[in-house]
Amino acid sequence: MRTALIVGNWKMNKTASEAAAFVHELAKRLPASSSVELVVAPPFTALESVRAALGPSSPIQLGAQNLFWEDHGAYTGEVSAPMLRDLGCRYVILGHSERRTLFGEQDDGIHKKIRAALTHGLRPILCVGESLAQRESGKTDGALTQQLKGSLAGLAPQAMAAIVIAYEPVWAIGTGRAATTEQAVAAHRTIREFLAGTWSPAIAKAARILYGGSVTPQNIESLLQSDQIDGALIGGACLQIDSFATIASVAGSLGV
Ligand code: PGA
Repeated sequence: MRTALIVGNWKMNKTASEAAAFVHELAKRLPASSSVELVVAPPFTALESVRAALGPSSPIQLGAQNLFWEDHGAYTGEVSAPMLRDLGCRYVILGHSERRTLFGEQDDGIHKKIRAALTHGLRPILCVGESLAQRESGKTDGALTQQLKGSLAGLAPQAMAAIVIAYEPVWAIGTGRAATTEQAVAAHRTIREFLAGTWSPAIAKAARILYGGSVTPQNIESLLQSDQIDGALIGGACLQIDSFATIASVAGSLGV
């Protein structure tokens, strides 16, 4: 039985004090023993307060929403992998579609960020996904493969074990229009085929591939029922304690 990975991407929401109060409450609402791995990714400014509120033995792990590939230097406004590790981060979301579309991120830069994360012991959660125009013109598989190639090519097989991939169709993010389980499964298969062809079938099988885009307490069960879908990357629904706790307990009870 695999353990589902549920990642809450808070985006630019919650001050440091709001974030601390939130996770304090969330921790109380989680079932005592459950086969789900939970990660919260607050804004950089709330990492320290969330870490303190969770305490050293919390089952909830800390993630960041981005990083810059250099360790330190004259890069005003940027945050590096060693800085995130020092704050207790275990995961980092990279290549999110908002970073790609609003901040001009491209696959070659995302590739450097993945390498920096791996060098410093952070597990990258690489986001890939097609636009609505790409889907409607039958270019979904090509778009996914191109993003995967551009950001992962050249990584050693051992490095692949630390990488999580999140399939996030751009048209499903924040729209209330989630992909159907069938659409998500088909995309996850495409991703696994790419991994099998580039590295090995064993790496493709072991890879953790999440679905993201309008995941809710209502649709999480159907999504996780497929053995192609290893967990979820959640935006809007992770900002309320009720919905995040419900998603976590459904995922824990399924034990994908
Ligand atoms: P959403 O966001 O759940 O609000 O659609 C998902 C994401 O952007 O990771």
